[in-house]
Amino acid sequence: MIGQIDLARHFTLSGSAMTLSRVGYGAMQLAGRDGDKLVWGPPRDIDAANRSSATCRRKWREPHRYRRFLWSPCQEPDHKKALSPYPDDLVIVTKVGARRGEDGSWIPAFSRGDLTTAIHDNLRNLGLDVLDVVNLRSMFSIHEPAEGSIEAPLAVLAELQQKGLVRHIGLSNVTPAQIAEARHIAPIVCVQNHYNLAHRTDDALIADLARDGIAYVPFFPLGGFTPLQSATLSDVAARLGATPMQVALAWLLQRPPNILVIPGTSSIEHLRENLQSSMLQIPPEVIADLDAIGGSA
Ligand SMILES: NC(=O)c1ccc[n+]([C@@H]2O[C@H](COP(=O)([O-])OP(=O)(O)OC[C@H]3O[C@@H](n4cnc5c(N)ncnc54)[C@H](OP(=O)(O)O)[C@@H]3O)[C@@H](O)[C@H]2O)c1
Repeated sequence: MIGQIDLARHFTLSGSAMTLSRVGYGAMQLAGRDGDKLVWGPPRDIDAANRSSATCRRKWREPHRYRRFLWSPCQEPDHKKALSPYPDDLVIVTKVGARRGEDGSWIPAFSRGDLTTAIHDNLRNLGLDVLDVVNLRSMFSIHEPAEGSIEAPLAVLAELQQKGLVRHIGLSNVTPAQIAEARHIAPIVCVQNHYNLAHRTDDALIADLARDGIAYVPFFPLGGFTPLQSATLSDVAARLGATPMQVALAWLLQRPPNILVIPGTSSIEHLRENLQSSMLQIPPEVIADLDAIGGSA
């Protein structure tokens, strides 16, 4: 049953004064699609997207102690229009490192020119003078982290940071070796890789990052384009009087405290449900059942 204890608490990005609630919102589901081209063009349902934005806006204007954050890759709909005027305490995170081909493909965009253009596009689209956090997404493989040096593009991003266009730098789709390489070039505040109940490759990495005070913000926390489905998850949810997705999010929040969640949804009902997940406490014996889904029990 959803209770009164808020597990979301907060996390302060290292080397910053940005103390964030651990539950944010990933805005990618608001983008449209065109046939096989996913995350492409305006929202499928503009009204639903606007209602979701309005709910975020209302929620984020409610008094709270910690800052809310929004994950917003630059190809998504115009967040400036949807969310402005931005609440003072909203932290917006964007990413650079890829551009879209006409066929919808994701093309590496790591040159000095690509990165500089991407930062200025983000600033213009969001109507900001400085970006709170920018993730550099490694593209040696689009599907999963793959080795390769990220020194050159990161050095460009660090220069843009020194010019005052970027406050903090994060990394996405990266290996431990790339994170170590990056930390010699610039302070890294967060890492975003694929991780959820069923996809546990980064278990050890998350613990290492927790020790170093670096946030880990899983993408596809609910399974992404193929949302999580598991008889165990459904059974646990029924026992706890919650929904499967609330359990999947609460499980993440009961993992190391450097995990921040950014569930994505285009549905107002799902948004409300997801925001409530931090009130769900999962007993230890039930956590063990959930751990078994990813084969780590
Ligand atoms: N760095 C990267 O390479 C990268 C890659 C992918 C994503 N991301 C980031 O990660 C964020 C989250 O990822 P995501 O949105 O792709 O995947 P996700 O959060 O794992 O899952 C989204 C899917 O779950 C469904 N869903 C959400 N809440 C639900 C609920 N309460 N009940 C039932 N279904 C629910 C959504 O459908 P409905 O719309 O119907 O709710 C949607 O199909 C994105 O916004 C993006 O910012 C980053």
